[in-house]
Amino acid sequence: MKLLVTGGAGFIGSAFVRMAIAGSRAAQVVNLDQLTYAGNLENLVPVAGDSRYRFVRGDICDARLVDALVADVRPDAIVHFAAESHVDRSILSPAPVFETNLRGTFTLLEAARGNRVPRFLHVSTDEVYGSIEAPAEADEDYPLRPSSPYSASKAGSDLLALSYFVTYRLPVTVTRASNNYGPYQFPEKLIPLMLTNAFDGLPLPVYGDGMQIRDWLFVDDHCRAIFAALEKGRPGEIYNIGGNCSLPNLEVVRRILAATHRPDDLVRYVTDRPGHDRRYALSGEKLARETGWSPEVSFDEGLARTIQWYRSNADWIRRVKSGEYQTYYELNYGNR
Ligand code: NAD
Ligand code: DAU
Repeated sequence: MKLLVTGGAGFIGSAFVRMAIAGSRAAQVVNLDQLTYAGNLENLVPVAGDSRYRFVRGDICDARLVDALVADVRPDAIVHFAAESHVDRSILSPAPVFETNLRGTFTLLEAARGNRVPRFLHVSTDEVYGSIEAPAEADEDYPLRPSSPYSASKAGSDLLALSYFVTYRLPVTVTRASNNYGPYQFPEKLIPLMLTNAFDGLPLPVYGDGMQIRDWLFVDDHCRAIFAALEKGRPGEIYNIGGNCSLPNLEVVRRILAATHRPDDLVRYVTDRPGHDRRYALSGEKLARETGWSPEVSFDEGLARTIQWYRSNADWIRRVKSGEYQTYYELNYGNR
């Protein structure tokens, strides 16, 4: 397959591109990425010299560029990761979220329609279902109740993508994954933020009481699930991708403290995130039934692999946490 990937310089997109090339799961990968604060070509060093891989810097909202690229590449599939992906940033500054996640998705869908792209995989999130009361789990028909500008923009883009299947028969598939973790994740997200702060002996800022529940999915398992949905999933369908690993945030933080041999009193309880979803819980039964996919990496193993990667990549952390990151950190945590 010849793939056009968007957002392939980010955390999950780069894992997908590395898997596609190193695992020879694609004949060619073209990666369109604007290199925002979250995009990092260092994440793609393992594939940078490969003749099957090409990088194009550009904005998915740029209709002319996107249309010309799709016409030139003639991909067998577009795999759409590019997004403003962080809830806290979407609360501080919602405008870029709506621009990229809604207009950007619209621009790609139009280019796919105009150029008759045979497959469009829209990468989405379990956050579109909002907070879920125990013991319920969301299946793909569960109501959409997004809480943050980020999750509302993802819900909107999911509906837009699905409307292109219904109206234009564009073969769109939507995947909705739970919380990813693993190597190369930008340290604004819970696990790499806590991990890199723990390395430096800095406070670990836990929102509210820390008893919010997330379902953790190792990033390579997510990428395998996307390949499964691409190869065996049906157009017009939504597939949840869960990690079968629900934990309260505080438990995750305690495991990080134990693994890094740091004291519990590094934990700082700080003002809660506005609109904070208490619990996410997914049923991933449909993807398992239709494709045979299931997560392979346990949380203990995934966390150990993640910690090992961050330990071995101090220069990557230093560069990523300098400059803009410091401004963001002060803005989000300074008065909390
Ligand atoms: P990320 O923030 O690490 O990476 C986003 C990438 O998109 C970056 O490389 C960035 O440069 C690029 N990008 C942003 N705006 C762009 C634009 N206008 N044009 C071109 N490129 C642009 O994100 P991530 O965590 O890898 O998430 C990838 C996708 O997966 C997103 O769609 C997100 O909603 C979804 N998702 C993430 C998670 C998670 O836990 N991280 C879980 C489920 C779904
Ligand atoms: O569920 C899938 C979603 O997971 C993805 O769609 C998003 O792109 C991704 O960012 C993630 O969203 P969350 O808001 O769940 O992830 P985050 O890592 O920001 O936070 C995880 C939990 O940890 C959440 O309950 C908030 C809490 N948290 C987070 C940070 C950054 C803290 O307590 N302190 C923090 O400093």
